[in-house]
Amino acid sequence: MNNIMNVLLLGSGGREHALAWKIAQSPLLKTLYIAPGNAGTDQCGKNVNINISDFSAVESFIINNDIGMLVVGPEAPLVEGIHDYLISKPELKGLKIIGPQKAGAMLEGSKDFAKAFMHRHHIPTAAYRTFTYETINEAHSFLDTLNPPYVIKADGLAAGKGVIICDKKNEAINTIDEILKNEKFGEAGSKVVIEEFLDGIEMSVFVLTDGKKYILLPEAKDYKRIGEGDTGPNTGGMGSISPVPFADKDLMLRIEKEVVIPTIKGLKKDNIPYTGFIFFGLMICNDAPFVIEYNVRMGDPETESVIPRIESDLLEAFEACATGKLSEYNLQTDARFAATVMLVSEGYPGSYEKGKKMTISEKAFKGVLFHAGTKKSDDFVVSNGGRVLAVTAYGNTMDEALKEAYNHVPEVNFEGKTFRNDLGKDLQKYC
Ligand code: AMP
Ligand code: GLY
Repeated sequence: MNNIMNVLLLGSGGREHALAWKIAQSPLLKTLYIAPGNAGTDQCGKNVNINISDFSAVESFIINNDIGMLVVGPEAPLVEGIHDYLISKPELKGLKIIGPQKAGAMLEGSKDFAKAFMHRHHIPTAAYRTFTYETINEAHSFLDTLNPPYVIKADGLAAGKGVIICDKKNEAINTIDEILKNEKFGEAGSKVVIEEFLDGIEMSVFVLTDGKKYILLPEAKDYKRIGEGDTGPNTGGMGSISPVPFADKDLMLRIEKEVVIPTIKGLKKDNIPYTGFIFFGLMICNDAPFVIEYNVRMGDPETESVIPRIESDLLEAFEACATGKLSEYNLQTDARFAATVMLVSEGYPGSYEKGKKMTISEKAFKGVLFHAGTKKSDDFVVSNGGRVLAVTAYGNTMDEALKEAYNHVPEVNFEGKTFRNDLGKDLQKYC
């Protein structure tokens, strides 16, 4: 039924290595190109050095290399409109794109848009209001209607730093002023969303959707804080576990009914086309799901534990998504647990050094080792980011998967290697 094709994957993190690893296993693949990729993606296909925010460079590469499908890993090019740009080109007619157009990417690109969307479609989320520089005094007085802690969010993309949680009212006022008056986040902070604090437990749910139908992917839990016991500053993610032990059948059904289905229906109602992933960042409060945020891509490091649990051919699923045939698609998953331990640079998420030489023992390849911030330098692989490597392993129980992943950690070394030793401890009571 399907033709083999060349695929271009955009991005360079652990998420992209996991996607590349899976795409490379597909019988539908001719050649996989990754732009710009990392030292790990290079083992799954060909890394190409193009700037992914230069849409005309991406366009030329697609034309010159007969690319049949583009898979967009990170959110920025989607929010900037890469999908819209490429489909406006007559010579790219027929190109399949995984990742929404700008209108759909607004779910992540603007928190105010996402909140209004949820409100309009009765999707459970924290109560909120949006303010601008003109209404800064109202923003200050709105705080009086809330109980601390106060959740202050810059409207636009702020590289994961746009959510600030303040215990005290004066901190919240300063934060609002920093964003709206002092333009701390530039244009991304031209609006501020202030919302009710939700007290619960977080989890990540993913779908692949063609805007009408969707397939639910395995869910995951990630670990955002740098320190053990969930302390210290937020990071991009220090590890992940899939499935989530407390996400039983009843909760997953409730999430589909109250969150996923109304979101897909909402997109349809609002005439927003959508082809790609939706990542629902959820807070579960007394068994009820609330949406903290939408992302229009897969999570990182969730992808590193979710993708290894997908048994089906991912390119076949992408093809069904891009051609509107998801209703006929049945995703097969692996019932085992997958756990991912992220190895990061010393100092991360603050300042850290790059260029640390990696030693990876042969044994490490018995697990699933995903590169995040790495690159090749002469004959070596060196660190090239805060999150460096993701060590993933399977197990019949969560504890077995974690134990196996931690067993592989000593097989990979670089100066300053840092990781959390307590992943899954918070979930043991649900196992
Ligand atoms: P984000 O950058 O949107 O992923 O948000 C960062 C983190 O802030 C989330 O993972 C939550 O832990 C926290 N957060 C965001 N919104 C709320 C809220 N309304 N109540 C409690 N925590 C929140
Ligand atoms: N792990 C959270 C994210 O990808 O945003």
